[in-house]
Amino acid sequence: MVRAVARIDTGAVRRNCARLASELDGAELCAVVKADGYGHGADACAAAALSGGATRLAVATGVEAAQIGRRFPHVPLLTMGALSPADLDAALSAGSELASWRADFIHHVADRARAQGSKARVHVKYDSGMGRLGTRDPAEIVALLRACADSPDLEPAGVWTHFATADEPESDFFDEQLTRFCAVAEAAKAEFPEITVHAANSAAVFRDRRAHFDMARCGVAVYGLDPFQGDPAERGLEPALSLRSYVADVKRFASGDSAGYGQTWRADGETCVGVLPLGYGDGVRRGLSNNAEVLVGGRRYPLIGTVSMDNVTIDLGPDSEVGPGEEAVLIGSQGEDSIRAEEWAARLGTINYEVTCGISARVPRVEG
Ligand SMILES: Cc1ncc(COP(=O)(O)O)c(C=O)c1O
Repeated sequence: MVRAVARIDTGAVRRNCARLASELDGAELCAVVKADGYGHGADACAAAALSGGATRLAVATGVEAAQIGRRFPHVPLLTMGALSPADLDAALSAGSELASWRADFIHHVADRARAQGSKARVHVKYDSGMGRLGTRDPAEIVALLRACADSPDLEPAGVWTHFATADEPESDFFDEQLTRFCAVAEAAKAEFPEITVHAANSAAVFRDRRAHFDMARCGVAVYGLDPFQGDPAERGLEPALSLRSYVADVKRFASGDSAGYGQTWRADGETCVGVLPLGYGDGVRRGLSNNAEVLVGGRRYPLIGTVSMDNVTIDLGPDSEVGPGEEAVLIGSQGEDSIRAEEWAARLGTINYEVTCGISARVPRVEG
């Protein structure tokens, strides 16, 4: 009996990467393991991704780069985020390649690389429409690559962009971004043929082969989550994470008895209520109050009452034979049924990414 555990099927991560690599047909797969591998555990998932065919890794922050760089010193690593001076030093020390889109930052990178006695590999970022990081000026891309090539402390390593609507099949904006990026990538490649051109996230990999270029940066699909918020199986992906707990207590309720803060649920007849010892302190969001189901003995039971920090309650029905100690599955499979992160996301009005990233550090991640 474990209070709460996130079981991570690293075999599923490996198979998801093999699936993505086969879709890529020659382009490299870069597994995105930021935010502790989308809540799945970055180290174990990175190792599984590499054994499944990923050849590179990507993170967002300097601290993440330090962690992954230490564990996988010979695997090319890209830190994708904007970097504070401390983050930059951490990423450089980890041997990570960096993102840049501003001349002043590139000069700063050169200074810090020289100070560390290393050479920084720079991926120049084009903002083709995401409206976040990157330069919007196509001419600046080649100028920045030249600045890298001219510096003894820098190396031009890549040109890249990020899509805003790859996961929205109806959106034409994806094609607009792709067209803009193709022109920029072509000009950059003509002068720097050795650079890596990359744009696709998971959704773009499945959506359009023209977006694959030299490499794809896949996160969500690596973990078997559906980039389109549907059924991952339809794209040959297997969810890697399950969130498990157990029934800590079962008590008989009379009609009208209430469960939890605010009495938001009352029994409308005699029933049995099970108590599971996890709550929003573990990432079971309060928005799931009276708005989720839990598997026990292979059957779904409604989550009733308000989610507390450390407990949730489920209605087991009047004739329940469920007793204390039985396993409860909040996300994942049990018997013939399964509850996916996408189901939580739909109930919460969010995306599967936020569901798994939201499982808190209090929940141990265990392989198997
Ligand atoms: C810049 C960048 N590239 C790639 C990814 C991976 O995207 P996905 O998880 O949709 O595959 C992300 C994730 O947010 C990102 O920020």
